[in-house]
Amino acid sequence: MSRPLAVVCLAAGLGKRTKVSIPKVLLPLCGRTLLACSLDATDTLNPQRTIVVVHHQKEKVIASVADRANTVCVDQGKPLGTGHAVKVAMQALADFDGDVLVTYGDCPLIAGMTLQQLVASRGFAPCSVLTAYPEDPSGLGRILRDDDGRFVGIREDRDCDDEQRAIDEINAGFYCFDAKTLRPALEKLQPNNAQGELYLTDVIAQFVAAGREVPTLEAEDSGDIQGVNSLADLAMARVVMQERILLEHLMRGVMIEDPSSTYIDFGVEIGADTRILPCTVIGKGCKIGSHCEVGPFAHLRAGTVLEDGAEIGNFVEAKKSHLGAGSKAKHLTYLGDAVVGAKANIGAGTITANYDGVNKHTTRIGDGCFVGSGTVIVAPSDLGARSMTGAGAVVKRGSKIGADEVWVGVPAKLLKQRDPATIKPSNQAKETR
Ligand code: UD1
Ligand code: CA
Repeated sequence: MSRPLAVVCLAAGLGKRTKVSIPKVLLPLCGRTLLACSLDATDTLNPQRTIVVVHHQKEKVIASVADRANTVCVDQGKPLGTGHAVKVAMQALADFDGDVLVTYGDCPLIAGMTLQQLVASRGFAPCSVLTAYPEDPSGLGRILRDDDGRFVGIREDRDCDDEQRAIDEINAGFYCFDAKTLRPALEKLQPNNAQGELYLTDVIAQFVAAGREVPTLEAEDSGDIQGVNSLADLAMARVVMQERILLEHLMRGVMIEDPSSTYIDFGVEIGADTRILPCTVIGKGCKIGSHCEVGPFAHLRAGTVLEDGAEIGNFVEAKKSHLGAGSKAKHLTYLGDAVVGAKANIGAGTITANYDGVNKHTTRIGDGCFVGSGTVIVAPSDLGARSMTGAGAVVKRGSKIGADEVWVGVPAKLLKQRDPATIKPSNQAKETR
């Protein structure tokens, strides 16, 4: 049974407990914001529409989702509770009929598969509820059941008596509603609780009071529903997310020698048979081919591409740079906005000086180039195919080194044409490993 699906993601909360100035849902987690993690999970269900409920620092939150398809933000105004938030969202879904999946923007670990099961478990009930058994249920709504184990309601922690507070099954905060039954129930909500808020959970109480059965789904892993309220929560969520990312690469044949010291953002592509050595950081948007080697102690930043067989060694940083097949930069190098051809050798201590204080410029290093140790290339500059620089050369801004030319000195000047006999494809030099 497949019905139209709309997602309502609640992201209006203040997030006071993080103590930082950026909105909580925009905190970064392995290359995505918390909100993007949540929306990527629901996107796997192909919703017709996604409504993000925003308020605090809404301009930033709205900007962060501007590129997402079928996604609109609605301003909750003063957040008056989860029921109020969904009520506001439903105004943007006035003409929608089908499943309404409610999620939180601060729960980045939720898996699309779990949400898919939650939607499927609703059947013809007015709603289905995701529950979990976390190690520490304090602060969370408890699931109330009758003697036969049937779901009868949710009681907020602060509204619980001692006996109820001892219940270890909690409301994860994810629900699938039927749009048609949800609308009138939201209209009936009253703020009669400890916080004076409109509780979304009271909608479910109405369904139970009307004699409707409400199915629950237990989350397979209680860690997945963990919300981020503080930077300590964020740090713990990062560990889980990082492990998931690394495991996926390992399953695909990427040899990650020491996962505990390897940091790879979400969405990085790495080919099989590539080795990632310890203490390496690879940022979002990097693409690494197969049979490459990265690290130890390497830092690949946004937009860096390594073609097959390229090697980046210790204390090398590459930003928005492209290394052709079989090229190597093995020691103490900065490559920023560099376009390096195939089989080039970038000597130890090479620096592309890409920033003039105002703009960033491109350095082009051709196929088979041999850049001598300690060369500084002030961008924009062009090093032709198989050209060579001497150790310590400073290639001035705007230089155009021709093919096979050897430049040396400070500032670097043409010395001679390279002797073809001294040119060997750099990737044959395997004895350096
Ligand atoms: C809610 C549930 C509780 C559940 C818990 C799981 C209610 C009444 N209680 O708790 O049973 O165990 O989630 O985490 O629903 N938000 C808005 N607008 C609002 C209020 C909240 O967008 O007006 C957002 C928050 O930013 C947050 C999420 O909704 O992302 C949950 O809000 P929070 O206040 O943390 O949930 P609780 O009410 O404590
Ligand atoms: Ca919460």
